[in-house]
Amino acid sequence: MLYFVMFALCGWRSALAKDQTSKGRLSAPVLNVTSRELVMEANQTLQLHCRGQSELSWAFPVGVAKDQRSVRVVDSRCEGRGHLHCSSLTLSGAQPRHTGSFRCRYRHQHSKQTSLYVYVTGSQQPFVEVQTEVPGVVFMKEGEALVFPCRVTAPHIPVALIKFPGQRLVPDQKSIIWSSKKGFIIPSPSYRFSGLFSCETRLNGILHSAQYLTHRPVNKILDVYLNSTRPVRSLRGERLALTCTVTAEWNSRVSITWSYPGQVNDSASISRRIVKGTSSIMFLSVLSITELSRADRGVYVCRVRSGPVLRETNTSVTVYDRPFIRLKHRHGPVVNALAGQKSYRLSPKLRAFPPPEVIWLKDGMVAAERCSRYHVDGHALVIRDVAEEDAGLYTILVGIQEHGLYRNLTLSLVVNVKPQIGEKAVSVRDPGTYPRGSRQALLCTSQGFPPPQIHWLWHPCPQRGPPAAALA
Ligand SMILES: *[C@@H]1O[C@H](CO)[C@@H](O)[C@H](O)[C@H]1NC(C)=O
Ligand SMILES: *[C@@H]1O[C@H](CO)[C@@H](O)[C@H](O)[C@H]1NC(C)=O
Ligand SMILES: *[C@@H]1O[C@H](CO)[C@@H](O)[C@H](O)[C@H]1NC(C)=O
Ligand SMILES: *[C@@H]1O[C@H](CO)[C@@H](O)[C@H](O)[C@H]1NC(C)=O
Ligand SMILES: *[C@@H]1O[C@H](CO)[C@@H](O)[C@H](O)[C@H]1NC(C)=O
Ligand SMILES: *[C@@H]1O[C@H](CO)[C@@H](O)[C@H](O)[C@H]1NC(C)=O
Repeated sequence: MLYFVMFALCGWRSALAKDQTSKGRLSAPVLNVTSRELVMEANQTLQLHCRGQSELSWAFPVGVAKDQRSVRVVDSRCEGRGHLHCSSLTLSGAQPRHTGSFRCRYRHQHSKQTSLYVYVTGSQQPFVEVQTEVPGVVFMKEGEALVFPCRVTAPHIPVALIKFPGQRLVPDQKSIIWSSKKGFIIPSPSYRFSGLFSCETRLNGILHSAQYLTHRPVNKILDVYLNSTRPVRSLRGERLALTCTVTAEWNSRVSITWSYPGQVNDSASISRRIVKGTSSIMFLSVLSITELSRADRGVYVCRVRSGPVLRETNTSVTVYDRPFIRLKHRHGPVVNALAGQKSYRLSPKLRAFPPPEVIWLKDGMVAAERCSRYHVDGHALVIRDVAEEDAGLYTILVGIQEHGLYRNLTLSLVVNVKPQIGEKAVSVRDPGTYPRGSRQALLCTSQGFPPPQIHWLWHPCPQRGPPAAALA
C-alpha cells in the first residue's frame, strides 16, 4: 500500500530532458516526486525513486538514520536505459520522528542533490523531537541566530513560543521566524531571549510542549593579574610562588596555562582554586617551585583562554647564586654642593640582594639624628636647604644581617659658599667728598667657600652738569 499526499509547490521537475542536453557534466539526480514537500500518515510506507547519471546515495533525516532497520535502499541499472543509475528507497512503518529531508545525491559528488521534505504526521506527536523531562539546552552565540528546534510533523500545526512564566512571543517573520521545518528562529537574539522557553501546541485537545533553556556561553575575562608584576628576585634554593588571578563574568569558563623556563622538566607544581563572587568569578592558579635553581630564571607567562578570548601577563624571575652587596662611588669620593641649594642627594651606586639595611653616618654619628634636614630616601641621603655646616664626611653602611654581609663607603661633601661682600649689606651712602691730596683707606670684607679672591677695579665718577643748568 502506497499513499502520497502531495503539496504541489512547483511543477513536475522533468530534468530528464536536461540530462540529455548537458553532455558529460552531471546534473542533479531526479526524484520521481514532483513537489519539494510531502505529508504522509504514520505507519505508511514511503517509497521514492531516484535516477541519475552516476552512482547514487541517500541522506536521511536524523530520526531515520537512527532507525536504519526501517529503511531499505535498492540500487540498480535503470530499465531500458543502459547508462542511467537508479536507486529506490523504501521507508516502511514511517514514524513522526522520521520527519525531515530525504536527499538523493551522487556518491562521488554530494553537492549535486535533490531533496524532498517529508512530514510524517502522528495523532499523538506534533513535535518531531520527543523531549525527556529535562528541557533541551540551546546555545546563544555572539552573531549567530538562536533556534528553538521544535519542528513539527505537519506543515500547518500552529505552534506558540512562550517565555517562562507565560509571555507569548508572536512570530513576525523578521525578529522571530516560525518554520515548521526548523522551529522558531531568532536571527539576532537579545538578552530577552535568555531563560526558559517552550513551544506549545494543542493536538486533539491535548497540550503538547517542548521546553528549552537558552544558555549563553560567556567568554568575558574582566581582569588578569599576577601578584607580582615587578621582576621577582630570589636566591637559589629558595621557594617561588606566583599567583595568577583571573576575574571573569559568571558562567565563564577559563583555562589557565603557564609557560616558564623549567617547563620541559615540569619543575613547577600548579594548583588551582575558584572563588565565586556575586557578579563575577575568580580563578586562581598558583605556580610554585620549592627550590629555585639557576635554570629557573626567565620569564613566567600566565595565559588565560576563555572561548576565543586570550589574555596573558608575565613577570621575570632572577635567581641569584648567593647574597651580595656591591657598593661604589658614583662621582668619586669627593662631591660638591652649593650652600642655599634646595636639596642635595648623596647616592653612591648600590646593588644588593636580598634587600639590605642602610644607615648613613655624618662624621661618625647617625646622620638622621644629627640634623632634621637629613633624611634617607631609598638608599640615598637627602640634605634639605644645604648649609655650610653640612660639609663633612658621610658614610653609608649597608648590611644584610641574616647573611652576615656588610659594606661601607665614605664620601666627603664640600659645600661651596658664594662670595659675599660685607659692605654691600650696609646701605649704600653717597661716598661724600674728600680733600684733594688726603689719604683714604677703602675697606672690603668678603666671605665664601672656598675663600674668595679680591680684585679692586676703579671707575671714574660720572660727570655732573653745572647745577644752574640742571635747575634751568
Ligand atoms: C501506527 O501503528 C501503531 C501500532 O501498530 C498504532 O498504535 C498507531 O496508532 C498507528 N498510528 C497511526 C497514525 O495509525
Ligand atoms: C516513485 O517510485 C516508486 C518506486 O518505483 C513508486 O512505487 C512510486 O509510485 C513512485 N511515485 C510517484 C509519485 O510516481
Ligand atoms: C604570590 O602568591 C603566592 C601564593 O599565594 C605567595 O606565596 C607569594 O608570596 C605571592 N607573591 C608576592 C610577590 O606577593
Ligand atoms: C632540566 O633538567 C636537566 C637535567 O636535570 C637540567 O640540566 C636542565 O638545566 C633543566 N632545565 C630546566 C629549564 O630546568
Ligand atoms: C611580557 O609582558 C610585556 C608587557 O605586557 C610584553 O611587552 C612582553 O612581550 C611580554 N613577554 C613575554 C615573553 O610574553
Ligand atoms: C667599613 O669597612 C671596613 C672594611 O672594609 C671596616 O674595617 C670598617 O670597620 C667599616 N666601618 C664601619 C663603620 O663599619
